[in-house]
Amino acid sequence: MKGIILAGGTGSRLFPCTAVTNKHLLPVFNKPMIYYPLRTLVKAGLTDIMIVSGKEHADHFKKLFNNNPDFPDINFNFAVQKDPGGIAQALGLARDFVKNEKIIVILGDNIFEDDISGPVIEFQKQEKGAKIFLKKVPDPERFGVAILKNEKIIEIEEKPLSPKSDLAVTGLYMYDQQVWDVISSLQPSGRGELEITDVNNFYVRQGTMTYEILCHSWTDAGTFASLLRANLRAAMIEDFDLKLLIKEIYGDEIEFKK
Ligand code: DAU
Repeated sequence: MKGIILAGGTGSRLFPCTAVTNKHLLPVFNKPMIYYPLRTLVKAGLTDIMIVSGKEHADHFKKLFNNNPDFPDINFNFAVQKDPGGIAQALGLARDFVKNEKIIVILGDNIFEDDISGPVIEFQKQEKGAKIFLKKVPDPERFGVAILKNEKIIEIEEKPLSPKSDLAVTGLYMYDQQVWDVISSLQPSGRGELEITDVNNFYVRQGTMTYEILCHSWTDAGTFASLLRANLRAAMIEDFDLKLLIKEIYGDEIEFKK
């Protein structure tokens, strides 16, 4: 299977930090943001990976990953999205790279703590369709939201004003070869983008969408609040003594629960 990391878009919610650099190159604790989704794919055994980014920063990704000693066994490929026409449009650019294989797609601003090796094997065995990963969140209106009936997804709503569940669709998707025709048939949404939620709803309607609920922490890093959260989670993963630092900054203003 081939892996695709989507790292285009404008990063407008992180302006002015993204005025001259790509969001996915900003630091999350001690690494560029894109390292985290990349590590999720690498840990699951993927070695052929395409990075799709906007034209302004495409060379920066090449510089970062060509001959990068942190990822010695990875065969990197790059594609350029001329304009930020949506997640599904960015994915469409990977068609020639993938040919007839199944794919794993991850958003460059999503940080997962689950090991997805098991689901990757499951999906290799799945005869047809797609698989997505859900996570219970306190603010579902920020995400694609999955509506379940009898443990089956019956619809996904993109950023609903009144969410019908608290299960966010995270930015990790597995697709079979039908995905390319689905993307070709999409019409831009109200915000002028080809939406990944429309791709997912095709599989939901076809009855071939499977899902997993994530066991561990997950966050995006596309807003200042979620970027801060991502930094703190990443520091914890790296065993950095966060409590000591917080004590140092806030002194007695803060009490930790036992
Ligand atoms: O984080 C998960 C959420 O990601 C999902 O729950 C939503 O269903 C999905 O639409 C998406 O929502 P966001 O509003 O957070 O997407 P955003 O526009 O921030 O794009 C997420 C990543 O996708 C971004 O870091 C890079 C990539 N992207 C995005 C666009 C619009 C591209 O590569 N090209 C693009 O044109």
